[in-house]
Amino acid sequence: MMNAQSATAAQTTPEQRAVEDDLVARVVASFDDTADPRLRQVMQALVRHLHALIREVRLTEQEWTAAIEFLTSCGNITDGKRQEFILLSDVLGASMQTIAVNNQAYANVTEATVFGPFFVDDAPRIPLGGDIAGGAPGEPCWVEGTVTDTDGNPVPGARIEVWEADEDGLYDVQYRDGRVSGRAHLFTDEDGAYRFWGLTPTPYPIPHDGPVGALLARAGRSPMRASHLHFMVTAEDLRTLVTHIFVADDALLDSDTVFGVKQSLVKDFTRQAPGVPAPDGRDLGDRTWSRARFDIVLAPASTRRPEGPRHQG
Ligand code: BEZ
Ligand code: FE
Repeated sequence: MMNAQSATAAQTTPEQRAVEDDLVARVVASFDDTADPRLRQVMQALVRHLHALIREVRLTEQEWTAAIEFLTSCGNITDGKRQEFILLSDVLGASMQTIAVNNQAYANVTEATVFGPFFVDDAPRIPLGGDIAGGAPGEPCWVEGTVTDTDGNPVPGARIEVWEADEDGLYDVQYRDGRVSGRAHLFTDEDGAYRFWGLTPTPYPIPHDGPVGALLARAGRSPMRASHLHFMVTAEDLRTLVTHIFVADDALLDSDTVFGVKQSLVKDFTRQAPGVPAPDGRDLGDRTWSRARFDIVLAPASTRRPEGPRHQG
C-alpha cells in the first residue's frame, strides 16, 4: 500500500510539489505572529494536516464544495437542543481520541468515555436508594457501588450525576415536552457508597436524521450505540470522571458507533426473576428487574490537564 507521501509523489511533478509546499509554508508562516502560543501551535498544525489531506487524496473542487455544504448543514440543524458537530466529532472518533489524550491511564483509576449530547445541568437530587426513572418506561435496575481514591480511601459526599435513555431509546430531552426523567444526582454516604434505582440500559441510535446520519448511511455504518448508563462523578481534590457502564453480552459492544466502549466499563447487569426480593425491599410485583455494581476510582486532581476536563462530545 502506498503511504500519503508516496501517493502525492507519484501523482505530481517536482515543480507541482514545490508550488504546493510553498503554499503550505506561507500559510503556516501567516500564523507566526499569533500572540497566544497555544493558538499558534494548534493553527499551524491544523494548516499542515489539512493541506496534507487535500494533497494526499488530490481533492477536487467539487468535493471541497461538498465538504463545505456538509459542514453548513451541520450548522443549520444545530440549535440549543441539537448539536450536530458533537455527533460528527463522536462518529469520527475525535471525541474519544481527545478523551484518551486527556485521561491517560493512572494507577487503578476508572476509565473515562464519551460525554454525549444528553447531559442536563440541574437534574433532580435523589436520596441514596432513590429512583432516577421519574416515570421513564423500562425494566427497573438496582445500581450500587463505591467511590474511592487510588489508595482505596472512601470518598464521602462525591456528587454522582446519572442519566440514561428509556426503553424506547430516547432521552427525556428528545421528547421536547419538558419532561425530566431518566436522570438525577445523588451523593455518596460516609463510606463512599452509593445506590439507586435506574433502568436496565437498552441500545439506541444516536440522532441520525441529519447530515451525520446521512454520512453514516453512505458509509454503511450503523448509528447504534451499545446499551449504557452515563455517570459524571465530581469530588473535591479529585479529577472529575465522565464515563458510562455498558451491559455485558450486548451484541453492539464491538460496533458502538462513537467508539465509546472500554472493556473495564462492561458490567454484568444480572437479571432477577419476578419475586426475587429487592435489596431495599421495594415491591416489584410480577416484574423482572436487574442489578449491577460499579466501583469507581477517582484520580487526584493533580493529574488533571491545566484547563481541566472539557465536558463535550
Ligand atoms: C449518548 O451516549 O447518548 C451519545 C453519545 C454520543 C453521541 C450521541 C449520543
Ligand atoms: Fe447515552
